[in-house]
Amino acid sequence: MDAIEIQGGRPLKGEVTVSGSKNATLPQIAAALLAPGPSIFHNTPDLADVRTMGRLIAHLGAKVSRGAEVGPHTLRVDASELPRPEAPYDLVRTMRAAVLVLGPLVARMGRARVSLPGGCAIGARPIDQHLKGLSALGAQIELSHGYVEAKAKRLRGAKVLFDLPTVTGTENLMMAAALADGRTVLENSAREPEVCALAKVLVRMGARVEGAGTSVVTIEGVRELKPVEVDVIPDRIEAGTLLCAALVTGGDVLVKGALEDDLDAALGKLREAGATITSEPGGLRLKAPARPEAVDFITAPFPGFPTDLQAQLMACLSVARGASRVVETVFENRFMHVQELRRMGAEIIVDGGHTAVVRGVERLSGAGVMATDLRASASLVLAGLRAEGTTVVHRVYHLDRGYEALENKLLGLGARIRRIRAPGP
Ligand code: EPZ
Repeated sequence: MDAIEIQGGRPLKGEVTVSGSKNATLPQIAAALLAPGPSIFHNTPDLADVRTMGRLIAHLGAKVSRGAEVGPHTLRVDASELPRPEAPYDLVRTMRAAVLVLGPLVARMGRARVSLPGGCAIGARPIDQHLKGLSALGAQIELSHGYVEAKAKRLRGAKVLFDLPTVTGTENLMMAAALADGRTVLENSAREPEVCALAKVLVRMGARVEGAGTSVVTIEGVRELKPVEVDVIPDRIEAGTLLCAALVTGGDVLVKGALEDDLDAALGKLREAGATITSEPGGLRLKAPARPEAVDFITAPFPGFPTDLQAQLMACLSVARGASRVVETVFENRFMHVQELRRMGAEIIVDGGHTAVVRGVERLSGAGVMATDLRASASLVLAGLRAEGTTVVHRVYHLDRGYEALENKLLGLGARIRRIRAPGP
């Protein structure tokens, strides 16, 4: 089992380039199912989740090539034939974003059988909103033996009011509505940049989508879509994670690919914590004080502070001057990094499951810690970069789901970090 070993205490310096966005790549690969013919995606990150999505698309019968044939960050999907519109449990259980094939398959093939995603470390994460939307568009939905079966001769446009903004729910319904008969209006839609990126790809495929990025998205269905060639946008969560790495180490780092508009709320909180953030050609530079200032923040759907950066900013605040109040409103169990940070000397109290108070300490001490989910593992790496002595983060397969060779990126900024084989679970 791989682990990451870090000797902390060195401020990061230099420049680093973020990879393509995982959460933009996954829905866009699914969108390729909507059109017969080869779609090509450049700048995709070489990550476990993207490889899993490629395996799933191939299982459906599409021809998928990546790496050697087309280059390490290019993925080619030819969805001319989809003889097996079924997403099996052994693929879905490792990556809940597999649910993103549901909308495209029902829209293109008239049927789909997708394993229900099980629970997840950070929360129940049901897909009731996805199913509510698809049945509003006329799909017959049946749940049996842990699978959802959806059928429709042809989906028809409808109004869908989401109970709450859901990123993949909005994406699934945008894709389904693209081939439906008539107009679909999605209300209370998610506004994340990845939703906007998908809408742009769908429009380039011939779909008629308006309003993406606002809470009301309107889609006029068309009969057929055509394949597309895409450059995937940079990963804003990786960019935010790298900016947090500069802050927690008191460093000075240029993060190339970081886009100001996609990170507004996060940048505001990093600046409140004492960071100086300036735009430079192709990215954002963060110059950090020796020690951050305490900051209160609340996670929320875009444009609020992203839940996917909560654990990373908390790692920075664990050494801040003063006490910070962190409220996690999106997922019900996204404080699992707290216990591990406390092992490193952080003083954090969680009350009621959604609120944590972080009393900043002068120093953290390196320790063996356990990653529990993707962003929690990033948080532990960041804490290790600051801590005195050696930190070993175990179960880094969590990290590999969402970060492409993060340790190499940090090494390039002067971190003393390496991947090791560690015994044990
Ligand atoms: C997307 O997940 C991201 N994943 C997540 O990133 C991210 O944390 C999340 O959006 C929130 O920003 C991808 O884009 C692949 P949601 P998603 O549906 O779409 C509840 C990472 O770290 N909900 O917006 O699954 C849900 O339980 C990952 O890269 C329902 O109740 O999140 C949650 O509490 C982690 N019913 C809230 O809505 C539904 O049908 C927001 O979830 C759907 C969601």
